Amino acid sequence: MWYLCVFFHRLLDYRRAEVESLAEMLGVYSSLEWRLPENQHPDSPFHLVNLPSEDVARNIANRSILVKGIYELWGEGSSLEQLEESIKSYPEDRKLPYLTCETTFKVTVDSFGKAISFQEQNDRIKSLAYIPFKGRVNLKNPDINFWLMETDDYGAHNGLPPVVQRRIFFGRLVGGADRKLLPTYELKSRRYLGPTAMDAEVAFLMANQAQVMPGKLVYDPFVGTGSILVAAAHFGAMTMGADIDIRAVRDGRGPDCNVWSNFKQYGLPLPVALLRADNNLPPWRPGLKEIFDAIICDPPYGVRAGGRKSGGRKLLKGIVAPYTVPDDKRTGHIPSTAPYSLAECVHDLLDLAARMLVMGGRLILSSRYSRVLLTMVKTGSYTEKVAEAATIKHQEFKENYVKRLEDGNLHSSVFSPVHPQLGEETDSKSCKELKPKYRGKYV
Ligand SMILES: C[S@@+](CC[C@H](N)C(=O)[O-])C[C@H]1O[C@@H](n2cnc3c(N)ncnc32)[C@H](O)[C@@H]1O
Repeated sequence: MWYLCVFFHRLLDYRRAEVESLAEMLGVYSSLEWRLPENQHPDSPFHLVNLPSEDVARNIANRSILVKGIYELWGEGSSLEQLEESIKSYPEDRKLPYLTCETTFKVTVDSFGKAISFQEQNDRIKSLAYIPFKGRVNLKNPDINFWLMETDDYGAHNGLPPVVQRRIFFGRLVGGADRKLLPTYELKSRRYLGPTAMDAEVAFLMANQAQVMPGKLVYDPFVGTGSILVAAAHFGAMTMGADIDIRAVRDGRGPDCNVWSNFKQYGLPLPVALLRADNNLPPWRPGLKEIFDAIICDPPYGVRAGGRKSGGRKLLKGIVAPYTVPDDKRTGHIPSTAPYSLAECVHDLLDLAARMLVMGGRLILSSRYSRVLLTMVKTGSYTEKVAEAATIKHQEFKENYVKRLEDGNLHSSVFSPVHPQLGEETDSKSCKELKPKYRGKYV
């Protein structure tokens, strides 16, 4: 049956994807179809979705983050007259069970792209007098929630891009997102926070994309303050995280302010493990594979929170030999690290996911750098041969990438640095001053 699916006007590219992931999680993806209501743009909040049953529609809506509501659509039109005609022609046997005197009901008037005054809302409700409501009105806890939703067209100078044309929808609410969980989990009330802690809305969206549910094991290889795993634990998953920074996973800001306390704050089951591990040097014993149902993460990005890998520059360049930390210094020792490019980090992550995800498991990767959320599903087996071929391809990519930066290429022929070239006479002191202050610390 076709339902009206109304989305929040947020994260537009991921709204249908979230519903599809949840439909697949509930085993009904093959029967899902989409349509747009008349005169609506794909960015409009109003979409029509074909789902096998009302129970499925309710379960998807209640679990989602971006679905405002899924409705049994009784009628729609570009004017109140057209709406009336459409509602009157909707089959009686579908309407009457919800209009009996035993049921209580409420009509909510909502709008998108325009404000409707209280008076106008009352007028809209009165204009529905042709619907034979027999039950009592209950504004607090009605059995049936009816919604009249109206959009204005963009000609009304409402500042919106042309995503909607005037349309009025009337329907019975089947289910809606539990957005209350967002204020509960919002970062400003989180006990342990870091500069790159993941926003709750995106973390919950990622958990939905990963089809997290009780009994699943979810891993975040860049766990930081644990925000992504908190969302996964909320949906009942067992969680496990790792970070190269031992201070993040072991210490936090003290015994009551760390990754563990973020779980305790919400009464969630604690992670099964938090590891100090480098994504570049995976800690798994040889032969161990296919243990995670989902890997959800937010890899390091930018200069401030850029990736690091174990070893230190001198060690990686062979200037110093590998060393063993003396036993008495082990607890306080912070191993040295070197820069870890995004390309290498993503390559390692794909390798980790290919090896450690179960078949059909999902890798959810948020790149705040390019503001995209990627969802990948494991569909083929991981073999040493496949891994070797991928490493060669990655190496080729790295070499070509370096070639592009060599002298004589388009970059160096067309562009020059903003700062003037240092001349022969420039002394070493002024040379030092020109260097960015953070050099050596972060790059
Ligand atoms: C963007 S932050 C993740 C933030 C996290 N999602 C949160 O909500 O707090 C990236 C994290 O990756 C960690 N990291 C950087 N390089 C790493 C590596 N090679 N292996 C594992 N973790 C690494 C950083 O210490 C940082 O905590």
